[in-house]
Amino acid sequence: MTITVTPSGQVCGAAVTGLDLTQALDATTVAAIRAAWLEHHVLSFPGQPMSDDDLERFTEYFGGFGEDPFIASVEGREHVIAVQRNANEQAPLFAENWHTDWSFQKNPPAGTCLFAITIPPQGGDTLYADQHAAFKAMPADLRERLEGKRAIHSAKMAYAPEGMYGEADQAIDRSMDIRPSPEANLTQTHRIIRAHPETGELGIFGSIGYMIGIEGMSDDEALATLLELSAWQTRDEFVYTHKWEKDMLVMWDNRSVLHRATGGYEGYDRLLHRTTIAAAA
Ligand SMILES: [Fe+2]
Repeated sequence: MTITVTPSGQVCGAAVTGLDLTQALDATTVAAIRAAWLEHHVLSFPGQPMSDDDLERFTEYFGGFGEDPFIASVEGREHVIAVQRNANEQAPLFAENWHTDWSFQKNPPAGTCLFAITIPPQGGDTLYADQHAAFKAMPADLRERLEGKRAIHSAKMAYAPEGMYGEADQAIDRSMDIRPSPEANLTQTHRIIRAHPETGELGIFGSIGYMIGIEGMSDDEALATLLELSAWQTRDEFVYTHKWEKDMLVMWDNRSVLHRATGGYEGYDRLLHRTTIAAAA
């Protein structure tokens, strides 16, 4: 099978066609997808009416499943979660802040797969910020302050009992099955500027939110630095705007891009199924 990879024309992202993801893929095709994924960081596969079995099989080709805390999996599936918002839901939008998935883990997932089941007629774009491009263009003074530094990551602002999706959020009408936990208070450090583990290309890893501090810096200095970094990381020129269609799969590289959700589809249901791809052993 020869796949066709069509770049988005934006800073990153490409569409992949010429294959059928409801069927098993041969090793050559998987290798071609992996190469395109490493090059373009965000791949979309339009027109793939996949089941959860298909989504799980696809995920396994790229490294198996990551560990997904704080969100209950869908019934009968250990590794699939529903990213969902009902038409009249009033809860704050899920994942509207820039982040890379589960960066507070020791070995965060290499990638994420998201399959579109119900897509509103407008809104709900996902934004991706290319962190290799952001690094390459980074002002020297900011880069010098971050080189060799490790950020402290934690899920506490999101998933601790007092966090954004914590106990107060449980009282509102959120359709997603979020399970806050004191475990969210744990911390983990990662280098802020680091080489991509597969390509060796330098980039910026993580963003404020899951990043709650910088080792060796006072809280005030770290906060100011993380805010300055965030403004740089998410400049328009580094952002790819992804538009969804029903039956589209997207896989992105959490080591290369930040992402965030957008709204603008009040009155419409939206449902996607998600898996994460484990970090390389
Ligand atoms: Fe996410």
